[in-house]
Amino acid sequence: MTRKILVTSALPYANGAIHLGHLVEYIQTDIWVRFQKMSGNECWYVCADDTHGTPIMLRAEKEGITPEQLIERVHGEHFRDFSSFHVGFDNYYSTHSPETRACANDIYGKLKAAGLIEVRTIEQYYDPVKQMFLPDRFIKGECPKCHAKDQYGDNCEACGAAYAPTDLIEPFSAVSGAKPELRNSDHYFFKLSDPRCESFLRQYTASGVLQAEAANKMQEWLGAPGDNKLFDWDISRDAPYFGFEIPDEFGNSTGKYFYVWLDAPIGYMGSFKNLCAKKGLDFDEFFKKDSSTELYHFIGKDILYFHALFWPAELEQAGFRTPSKIFAHGFLTVDGAKMSKSRGTFITAQSFIDNGLNPEWLRYYFAAKLSATMEDIDLSFDDFTARVNSDLVGKYVNIASRSAGFIAKRFNGQLAPADETLPAIRAIFDAAPRIAELYEAREFGKAIREIMALTDGANQYVDSVKPWELAKQEGKDAELHAACSNALNLFRLLTVLLKPILPAVAEKIEAFMNLAPLTWADSQTLLAAGHAINAYNHLMTRVDPKQIDKLIEANKQSLAPTAEVATVDSKKAEKPAKAEKAGKAADQKEAAPAADDGLCSIDDFMKIDLRIALIANAEHVEGADKLVRLTLDIGEEKTRNVFAGIKAAYDPAQLIGRLTVMVANLAPRKMKFGLSEGMVMAASDPDGKTPGIYLLSPDSGATPGMRVK
Ligand code: 2FM
Ligand code: ZN
Repeated sequence: MTRKILVTSALPYANGAIHLGHLVEYIQTDIWVRFQKMSGNECWYVCADDTHGTPIMLRAEKEGITPEQLIERVHGEHFRDFSSFHVGFDNYYSTHSPETRACANDIYGKLKAAGLIEVRTIEQYYDPVKQMFLPDRFIKGECPKCHAKDQYGDNCEACGAAYAPTDLIEPFSAVSGAKPELRNSDHYFFKLSDPRCESFLRQYTASGVLQAEAANKMQEWLGAPGDNKLFDWDISRDAPYFGFEIPDEFGNSTGKYFYVWLDAPIGYMGSFKNLCAKKGLDFDEFFKKDSSTELYHFIGKDILYFHALFWPAELEQAGFRTPSKIFAHGFLTVDGAKMSKSRGTFITAQSFIDNGLNPEWLRYYFAAKLSATMEDIDLSFDDFTARVNSDLVGKYVNIASRSAGFIAKRFNGQLAPADETLPAIRAIFDAAPRIAELYEAREFGKAIREIMALTDGANQYVDSVKPWELAKQEGKDAELHAACSNALNLFRLLTVLLKPILPAVAEKIEAFMNLAPLTWADSQTLLAAGHAINAYNHLMTRVDPKQIDKLIEANKQSLAPTAEVATVDSKKAEKPAKAEKAGKAADQKEAAPAADDGLCSIDDFMKIDLRIALIANAEHVEGADKLVRLTLDIGEEKTRNVFAGIKAAYDPAQLIGRLTVMVANLAPRKMKFGLSEGMVMAASDPDGKTPGIYLLSPDSGATPGMRVK
């Protein structure tokens, strides 16, 4: 019977590039979906960008664009990257959509009607400079446990302690550097601790929808029966916020916004609703209570809490079906370590493609490492190179390259009947149903082991019949024809088994072998005698280790800022990236030429707006060797963000609270790390005899915003 299946991958945030860590999940899901489609099931794969929340709002502001412009640009970049890796979504949408808004309002209204929404006044940190409430991650200060400085408001990266932002010593806003104030605000809570949610979740999480380790984790979070550990979930945020406003019962605005994690999973529904309209599908058939369709969410293990507790509880209490299964996977490490920007192992999808690596190499390698567990997987580049070169090029593609030419040259492109009693062929017929079970169970590594054993069997057959020798012998035409035809039939069968993993190669093979799109049922059939094939073109090249070196180097290089750093001593600043060098040259061409005698007029000098600036905050810039991010108060309504190449000379913590001088009317510069809105003044020896960078300070009495002339 044809199954009706809806599949999702987690929605990536719309403020960052897709990297290899993301791709583990999308490749895993795509392989599973392709297998379902090949098996004849009706399977829909939807995803979207996760577009709401404070970081996206602030990022857009820094870039000097609207959040709508930012999410539109990133949507294009994400879609390009996924398409490059052959991730075949049926719909790639956005949570900032009318469908998601309608579904969010609908679910919220139903939860409210069920008495599961409660308004409570909470006390939260507020940034008086930026005039916004601060999410925990945007408050920093000294860890109350180990006293490490510059720690986030939710947990300490030095000692691992978890705490409330109000526990931080000397907290400050990571947005403006201002000292935050505690203020009251009304928030909307989803009453997850309600007995209806608790009893549903106890039953649901133990019903087999989760992997065993995930189910155990849930029991911990739920607490023992009689000891309900669930807490009510704050689903609202105050303005300014980029998201959906929460309507009151008359549809009027409450001035509050849905928290991004409330509408993110609802984005799965929104994307599917959009697909339904395009394809004429029945949305309710998939989402109504007791639907006979299947719903699967592929996610990373870090977001289990949202998918296994909040999301099913919302769906259940709002009268919808709940997910059939939630599949969590582990994280990606590269060469045994966490992905690192400075080591060049934080590799973006785009750089992988731009450096000439074949995306199907990665699909194959990830598949070989993936299982149904939540264990982390490691990308070892030596292993990657060895496996791709040995399995895909040395074993699999080699079968076709050793036989196709003879069929074209000697037999007019036509195949002889295949020998269905051949052990290598029989082995594939027998193994295909087992391999199907492994795909279904997401045991892709085991499936590949079986497929490679069958590939070895096919190669042993070719080695035993030696077409290249038969071709040289008189009167051996029939044997040569049979040998090559058997080999190509074996190759076609193996292609069926690998097609969910290697869709682009499979498509090339379908064209070369003149085949209709291969389905799983084709793993039990052979080509008819006389079937004509087309000319063979090489299907896949080997990985050259130099390509890996280039890739890693490119990802190190991409850390360089994309514009000149705002300090007096530009020699010591980070090197601009290539693209920006070109931009800089163009700027220079447009600038008025300086007077030949090296002097400037007082009028020219007065064009430079120098101001006293208070360093409200200073922090390291992740991934930048020389930069410090400064938040400068020059007496304006908003603080300025300036990147200064002074990391070698100053510990950011020492800079906070001191006064310096900044160029306030320098045109803002878009850099890799954000917008730089000015330049601080520092002295350095142009000849480099006296090392160091010396930030300017005014005499005491100067205050932020005073003009320097
Ligand atoms: O963790 C993340 O990257 C989130 N953007 C995932 C959201 S998944 C779903 F709930 F939308
Ligand atoms: Zn600590």
